[in-house]
Amino acid sequence: MAQEVRGVIAPGKDEPVRIETIVVPDPGPGEAVVRVQACGVCHTDLHYKQGGINDDFPFLLGHEAAGVVESVGDDVTDVQPGDFVILNWRAVCGHCRACLRGRPWYCFDTHNATQKMTLTDGTELSPALGIGAFAEKTLVAAGQCTKVDPAVAPEVAGLLGCGVMAGIGAAINTGNVGRGDSVAVIGCGGVGDAAIAGSRLAGAAKIIAVDIDDRKLETARSMGATHTVNSRTTDPVEAIRDLTGGFGADVVIEAVGRPETYKQAFYARDLAGTVVLVGVPTPDMKIELPLLDVFGRGGALKSSWYGDCLPSRDFPMLIDLHLQGRLDLGAFVTETIALDEVEKAFERMHRGDVLRSVVVL
Ligand SMILES: NC(=O)c1ccc[n+]([C@@H]2O[C@H](COP(=O)([O-])OP(=O)(O)OC[C@H]3O[C@@H](n4cnc5c(N)ncnc54)[C@H](O)[C@@H]3O)[C@@H](O)[C@H]2O)c1
Ligand SMILES: [Zn+2]
Ligand SMILES: [Zn+2]
Repeated sequence: MAQEVRGVIAPGKDEPVRIETIVVPDPGPGEAVVRVQACGVCHTDLHYKQGGINDDFPFLLGHEAAGVVESVGDDVTDVQPGDFVILNWRAVCGHCRACLRGRPWYCFDTHNATQKMTLTDGTELSPALGIGAFAEKTLVAAGQCTKVDPAVAPEVAGLLGCGVMAGIGAAINTGNVGRGDSVAVIGCGGVGDAAIAGSRLAGAAKIIAVDIDDRKLETARSMGATHTVNSRTTDPVEAIRDLTGGFGADVVIEAVGRPETYKQAFYARDLAGTVVLVGVPTPDMKIELPLLDVFGRGGALKSSWYGDCLPSRDFPMLIDLHLQGRLDLGAFVTETIALDEVEKAFERMHRGDVLRSVVVL
C-alpha cells in the first residue's frame, strides 16, 4: 500500500519551497523505500528551484541523504529492511560500455526508481537527482542505496551522498593526488573544502586554498589547507607559483565552475600537471585558450562527475576513515535544521554563511 509522508517541494520557477503531502508507492522490482534520517542542503537543490536544471516542476528536493531501508522490491538482494544506507545519485547499470570495460564509476546508464512519487491529487513529482530526500520517506532504485557502518551519525553520513564525495573524489580519484604532491583548490565551499580534506588524506605536502571570501579561507585552513590566497586582492596564479618554487601546483582543482577560475587553474599548474574541473558551469559559459599553451603545458585537463566515485567502494571506506578519526566529516555540518527550514537554509547558503545545513528528520 502506498504511504503518505511530508516532503519539501519546489512548485515552480523561483517560487518559495513548501511542505506537501507526498504519496510514496510500495517498492516494485529493483526499488527500495528508505526512511530518511538526514539530508544536506546542496547548491544543486537551489539550481532546481531556480529552474536552472530543467522545467520538470514540481520537484521533490533533497539528494544528500542517509537513512534506513524500510522495504524492498521482490527481487532486491543487495540491501534489506533495516540496513543503514547513504543514497547515491549514480546507481551503476553493470551493462553499458563503461561498466563492461571495468570502469563503472563512469557508468553511462545510471538509473533511478521506475515508479513515480506523487502529490495526493496524482501530480507526478520529479525527485532531485532521482532521490528526493527532503521527505520522511523516499522511493529510489535499490542500487542507489549503499550500506555503511551504522555507527556514524546520519547527518554526517548523508553528506557523502553528494558534495563531500564530489570534492574528496575530485582530489583522490580524478586528480589522483598522492603523497608529496602540491595541490591548489580554487573555491572553498563544501566541495572545495572536501577536495582539501581529500588532498590531506592522500598525503599532499602543500595545499593552497583560493577563495574571494576570508571566512571561507579560515575554514579551509581547518580542513587542511597549508596556505591561503584571497583572489579578490591577490593574483592567484602568481601566488600559487610563488608558493611552489615558481612552477605551479601538481594538481589544481577548480570548484567554482566559471571560465575565469578555470583559466586560473589552467595557468596555476606545473608543466605536465593536472587540472580538475568539479565546479559545474552554466550553458552560456565559454573559454578561450591558446592551443599552443594547451599543448605546450602538457599534462591532463579532466572533469570530475560526482568525484568519479564508485559508491559501493568509496562510501564505506570514507565512513570507516571518519569513524577512525582520520577524516573529520563532521566539520562540514554547520547546522542541523527541520524540514520547514529549507527556504531559510537556501538564503544562508546564498550569503555564504554555511558550509552545509542538514535537515534532520
Ligand atoms: N562535479 C560534481 O559532481 C559536483 C557535485 C556537487 C557540486 N558541484 C559543483 O561544485 C561547485 C561548488 O559547490 P559548493 O557546494 O562548494 O558551492 P558553494 O557556493 O558552497 O562554494 C563556492 C565557493 O566558491 C567561492 N567563489 C565564488 N566565486 C569565486 C571566484 N571568482 N574565485 C574564487 N572563489 C570563488 C565562494 O566564495 C564559495 O566559497 C558548484 O558549481 C556545484 O554545482 C559539482
Ligand atoms: Zn553502466
Ligand atoms: Zn548535491
